[in-house]
Amino acid sequence: MFVNSDFKKNDNMETTDPQYWNNRYLTGDTGWDMGRVSPPLQAYIDQLENKDLEILIPGAGNSYEAAYLLEKGFRRVTVLDIAPVLTAQLRQAFAGTDLQIVEDDFFRHQGRYDLVLEQTFFCALEPSLRRDYVMHMHTLIKPGGHLAGVLFNRSFSHDGPPFGGTENEYRELFAPLFELKTMELCYNSHPARQGTELFINFLPK
Ligand SMILES: C[S@@+](CC[C@H](N)C(=O)[O-])C[C@H]1O[C@@H](n2cnc3c(N)ncnc32)[C@H](O)[C@@H]1O
Repeated sequence: MFVNSDFKKNDNMETTDPQYWNNRYLTGDTGWDMGRVSPPLQAYIDQLENKDLEILIPGAGNSYEAAYLLEKGFRRVTVLDIAPVLTAQLRQAFAGTDLQIVEDDFFRHQGRYDLVLEQTFFCALEPSLRRDYVMHMHTLIKPGGHLAGVLFNRSFSHDGPPFGGTENEYRELFAPLFELKTMELCYNSHPARQGTELFINFLPK
C-alpha cells in the first residue's frame, strides 16, 4: 500500500523501457499506488457536470480515477499505459464496462480529448522528456479542453522516479502552450502527500 511519495526502485533499467514498468507491476513494487482515487482528482471530478466529456488518463496504473469516473456516469473514458501486465489486469478488472483501455506509449498516442487527467504520470517520466510531454499533451487536448490534476512541488533526495519539480519550473514549461488557469497547493491531498502537491488546471492556447 502506498504510504509515501518515494517510489524509487534501484535497478539499472531505463524508465522509458516498458519492461521497467512491467517488472514493477509483476513484482508488486508499486509504491505510488494509493489504492483509491486521488482525493484532489475526486473533488475535481465531483464538480464536472458534462458526463459526455471525452477523457484521457495517461500512465493510468490501476485506474482508480477511471473507476470513479465510471461510477459517476462518465462513459467516454480512456486509460493509457505502457505496461502490458497492467493493461491485461485492467482488461479483466474493467470487463463489461465502457472503459477504453489502450496499451501504448503516451508519446505515440493519437487522439483528441476534452479533458486529460494527470496523476503521477508526469513525475514518472525522465525530466528530459518534459518538453515533449507538454508538446504532445497540447496535441491531445481539444480547443477549450483541459489538462487537470496534480504535480509534485517537492524534490526527491535520489534519482527518480518520481522526479520532482517546482511551481516556477512548471510555469516556464507549460506557459508557452497552455493558459495556466490554476496552479495551487492542494488542500485535500492524501495524508502522505500533504503539502507536496499542486493542483493544476491548464487550457491549451
Ligand atoms: C508512477 S505510475 C502511476 C500510476 C497511476 N497514475 C497511479 O497514480 O497509481 C506511472 C505509470 O505510468 C506508466 N508509464 C510510464 N511511462 C509511460 C509512457 N511513456 N506511456 C504510457 N504510460 C507510461 C507506467 O506503466 C505506470 O503505470
